[in-house]
Amino acid sequence: MLKISSLKKLVTDSMAIDLGTASTIIAVKGRDIVLDEPSMVAVNELTEEIVAYGKEAAEMLGREGRDVNVRAPLMGGVVADFERTKKMLAHFVKEAKTGGSQVSLQAVMSMVSDVTHVEQRALLNAAEEAHIGKVYMMEEGLAAAFGAGVLPSDKRASAVIDFGAGTTNIAIVAKGTVVHSRSERLGSNEINAALANHLRRHRGLQVGEETTEMLKTNFASAFLPEDITKSITVRGRDVQTGSPGAVEVTAGEVYPIVESIVRRIAQIVSDTLTELRPEVAADIFDRGVILTGGGALLEGLDQYLRGFISLPVTVSDEPRYATVRGLLKMFDEPELLEKVSRNELSLLQNAEIPFEA
Ligand SMILES: Nc1ncnc2c1ncn2[C@@H]1O[C@H](COP(=O)(O)OP(=O)(O)OP(=O)(O)O)[C@@H](O)[C@H]1O
Ligand SMILES: [Mg+2]
Repeated sequence: MLKISSLKKLVTDSMAIDLGTASTIIAVKGRDIVLDEPSMVAVNELTEEIVAYGKEAAEMLGREGRDVNVRAPLMGGVVADFERTKKMLAHFVKEAKTGGSQVSLQAVMSMVSDVTHVEQRALLNAAEEAHIGKVYMMEEGLAAAFGAGVLPSDKRASAVIDFGAGTTNIAIVAKGTVVHSRSERLGSNEINAALANHLRRHRGLQVGEETTEMLKTNFASAFLPEDITKSITVRGRDVQTGSPGAVEVTAGEVYPIVESIVRRIAQIVSDTLTELRPEVAADIFDRGVILTGGGALLEGLDQYLRGFISLPVTVSDEPRYATVRGLLKMFDEPELLEKVSRNELSLLQNAEIPFEA
């Protein structure tokens, strides 16, 4: 009879990792999504040590203890703080593992399409440090497309726009490959920045990240609300006096701020759609575009975009999970995985890593 311990040796976790600016989402083959945490770490500034990861770190954000600082080690979809990204990834991978140290790992990870070789190697190194045996890297846009239901065998083109926290990634996909793509380091977090900036400059109130996020997700929308006088109380710190304060913000006041960012995104989408070859353009004309990513949850974004590009626009099921689900699907298509994964190590070998411990 096989003992449990020897059985464990046979276990391989096949892990899909979407390492995003805002969230790290991990799914394991056979178990779907097992981890969904903010891509954040809390650092003790005196010892330089990480004292909390993910949700626990995010809960401290804005209310950190004197010596603690909460940071997002990924900025705009790239590895801004290599050492901490590495540690964060290793921590999350450990959390997501089925259990038992003998569990071996293979993983497929996403990266934005304009990622440089240096950044790509930084991500690969981070994965190696997390003790993942074999790592495949795949373009985020392609993963998002598969996750949104685009079939790798479909010869006609589909357009998928992943509106993330730090990046907007547009991928035109046909027959399981990217036929055209564009990636901009402009994401939904730009709306938070614009809201916070407006409150500070025009309403004299400094607000924290939790407050702007609440304002965006619960109150903001991409279309002019019917009742522009509808209001919400926003609390923070009075710029003049430094004291705790609050202001009433109306829907009519928030709308133009949000719209200015949404319009930039829509313009990028619209420009990208003028760069397509005729057959591809014809397919997109029929099918329109699919939205994925957390930014797609902004109220009325689909409606706004539909008006802007005059094409059908749909939001995928659970848009935040499209990328990770697309990555996970790759384990059912090993040949496709080999084809689409971009572990071009010969290219990577020449890249020097500027990040140092
Ligand atoms: N209900 C909502 N309304 C508006 N925005 C939302 C909503 N829910 C999440 N978001 C926004 O979606 C973004 C996170 O999306 P997502 O998880 O796809 O980003 P990410 O993958 O971490 O980022 P990136 O792909 O750019 O690296 C955040 O900016 C968040 O504020
Ligand atoms: Mg993403």
